[in-house]
Parts: sequence; C-alpha cells; structure tokens
Amino acid sequence: MSGPLRVGLVGVGQRGLQHVNAMVQMQKDEIVHITALADPYPENLTDDKIQRFVPDYSSSGIKMFDTADDLIESGLVDAIWFVIPPNQHNGEIERAANRGIAIFAEKPQSLFLDDIISQDRAITTSGVPSTVGFQMRHDRGYTDIAAYLSDKWVAAMTMIAEGAVEGHGVKHTHTEELGGPANRVWTANRAWSGTSIVEAGIHQTDIMRYWSNDDVEWVRAIYTDRPVELHETEGDNPIAYTVIYGMKKGGVANLIFTKPARSYYGGRFDCIIHTHGTIKLEDDFVDYTFDGAWPPHQTPEIEQVRKIVSPGPHHTAMGQESTRAIGEAFATSIIENKPEYRLNSFNSSINSLASVLAANISNDLGGERIVIDEFINDDKYARYRRNPQK
Ligand SMILES: NC(=O)c1ccc[n+]([C@@H]2O[C@H](COP(=O)([O-])OP(=O)(O)OC[C@H]3O[C@@H](n4cnc5c(N)ncnc54)[C@H](O)[C@@H]3O)[C@@H](O)[C@H]2O)c1
Repeated sequence: MSGPLRVGLVGVGQRGLQHVNAMVQMQKDEIVHITALADPYPENLTDDKIQRFVPDYSSSGIKMFDTADDLIESGLVDAIWFVIPPNQHNGEIERAANRGIAIFAEKPQSLFLDDIISQDRAITTSGVPSTVGFQMRHDRGYTDIAAYLSDKWVAAMTMIAEGAVEGHGVKHTHTEELGGPANRVWTANRAWSGTSIVEAGIHQTDIMRYWSNDDVEWVRAIYTDRPVELHETEGDNPIAYTVIYGMKKGGVANLIFTKPARSYYGGRFDCIIHTHGTIKLEDDFVDYTFDGAWPPHQTPEIEQVRKIVSPGPHHTAMGQESTRAIGEAFATSIIENKPEYRLNSFNSSINSLASVLAANISNDLGGERIVIDEFINDDKYARYRRNPQK
C-alpha cells in the first residue's frame, strides 16, 4: 500500500501518550496519519491534556471515540495501537483483526493465556500484520548484540533489574471506579498487573529471547512477598523476584527483579555468556573473547580480548528513541510490505508472555518447574489459563 498509514490508538494514558508523541513525529514525516483516538474518559482526549505530554499535538483531523469498538467500526484506520491495562481487554483485538485492521498490542497482551490464544487466533486467521510492544528489540545496541550472537550459542544470561514501586500520579485509568487500587497505581497491584514480572520483567524476558535467538522451554521462580500490612500503601505485588528460564537450545537465563518501596534507586546488570566469551554492556557493548590460537602461551591482557560489539554512547533502550523506532518499523512494514521490519509478531511473542505467566505459577507451586508447552496445552494447567471474569 502507499503511505501514510491511517492509524488509531486505544488508551491515551501513560504509554499511549508516548506513542501519540511518536505518531506526531511520524506524521510530520508523512509515514502515518493519525485519524482516531479512543479512551473512556473524556479528559484523556482533550487537547489541553494531550499537549501537556505531546507539545506538538493537534487534534485537527482526528476523530475521538469513547469506546474501542466504535473506533474499530469507524472505517477510519488501517492499524490500531492497543495501549490499555492488560486486564481490560475484552475481545477488542479480536474484533479489530476480524475487520482486517493491523494490530500493535502493548505488552502484556492480556493476563490470561486463554484470552491471548483467542487474540492470536483472530490475528493469525485474518492474516493482519501484528506486533507486540517490545521496544528494546528496536534499540540499536541491543540489535547489534542480537546480530553479533546470531552465529553463536548462548550458554547463560543474567539480568538484574533494580527498580522500585511505581510512583503515584502517573497512571490515567480510573482504577478506583473499576474495583482497582484507589491511588491508580495499577502496576503495583497483582490483579491488574499480573505481578511486576508480567508487567515489566516481560521486557527483560523478551530481550533475552531476542539476543539468544531462542525460546523459553521451562521456568522456575521464587518471589519474596511484600508483608500484608504494607499492601494498602505499597500494593500487593512482591518485593523481589528470582526467575530462572531454561532455553530450548540448552542455555539458562536468570532474571532478578526488585521493587522495594521508598527506594529511588534504579540499576541494571546484564551479562551474556556464549561458548567463547562474555558480553558486557559497558559504555560500549563489548565481548571479552580471545581470537588467537588457544590456549595462548601467555594470559592476554584484558584490553587484548576486549572487542567492541556496539560502540557507545548508548541511551536507555526503553526511551523515546525505541518507542519511535518500533512504531515506525510497524508502520513502514505495512506500507512497504516488509514483515521482517517488525522483529516480532503477536504469535511469536506468546512465548515471552507465557513465560512470565508461568513464572507466577511456578512461584505459587513452591518453585516447581513449569514447561511452557505444557502450560499452553495441558489440562493440568487449564485453571491457570482461564480468565475468571469469563
Ligand atoms: N515501554 C513499554 O513497553 C510500556 C510502558 C508503560 C506501559 N506499557 C503498557 O501499556 C499499557 C497501558 O499502560 P499505561 O501505563 O499507559 O496505563 P494508564 O492507566 O496510564 O493508561 C491506560 C489508558 O487506557 C484507557 N483505557 C482503559 N481501559 C480502556 C478500554 N477498555 N478502552 C479504551 N481505553 C481504555 C485509560 O483510560 C487510560 O487512559 C499496559 O499494557 C502497560 O503494561 C508499556
């Protein structure tokens, strides 16, 4: 098709506004034309509010809807970005796909595997283009790592993500009217977020799959619960998560994720071990590997084995750059009919989501090993796949 692509967005909240910002920039470059926005709360659709987050935004030419279904039925869009909390999906992705609309689904696509299978079936049957919002796949440095590892076997990956309980005042869903947390911090609430591993650790889970060009075969997890007396003020999600993934090609991945309240520390540790090297994310992304005849006569100096995989400086892989990059990759992949620009599909992303949902089950079962294919297919896990609201 010829551009610009007619795009709509459902859920003009914290993340939706970041996507609107990227869309406004893409509109200037005539890649997309923003034709429709949907949100149930009128205040989230006002120029005033959106311009506070997206100064260049103008509502000219954009039709506003208070339901996703009215937007889907409008005939105004070729593609929709779905950016609503994961427990709020109610068949909209399926209905959009059945109407031939391309799907950009923010992660997590839902909290229940039965719903995800239903979304995937509609997308796969209709054949519409799809992607899931794993923006780190579109970061230059992370892509360089994936390319560098494409002819190597990854034996182990470790990621430590030191974060804190999310701040107040950043979320836009009126959770207090929907049986959710009074302070709107739904990411700290288990029923809404599915735990921090599902809501946020899914990014690290997915990027480890991307780097190693592999899928998760099984998961074991142990969480440290937040004391019950703190749930009212800090949310009921665990304080710390230790998750181990067994990869299909035999490597093992470790993910440690922390969410203490009152801490404002954010830190990251990443290490990738392949057969003959150690990749570290320094100012440059580097591989420590000895290229000569092995063993060497003399132990080499560290500088002699330091090989730059991706030159710095590197910015956060979760920022504006990769938000624009994933949106642009999605839009241009449709305009130019180049599915390979997308770096994932709804279907290929199911392994990331199933893995974090299975981490919850493993923790509930005392650290039992959960095989992902069994979680998806076996009757013994049927009750964990089901959406209790349905
Ligand atoms: N970088 C990332 O990948 C990233 C970052 C933040 C959030 N997210 C994801 O984006 C999604 C939205 O999170 P958020 O932080 O923007 O939350 P939010 O609560 O700030 O915003 C959600 C918006 O969706 C609207 N909404 C809720 N239910 C709706 C429905 N049924 N139909 C239409 N609109 C509806 C709300 O009114 C609100 O404006 C979540 O899945 C979250 O995990 C991704």
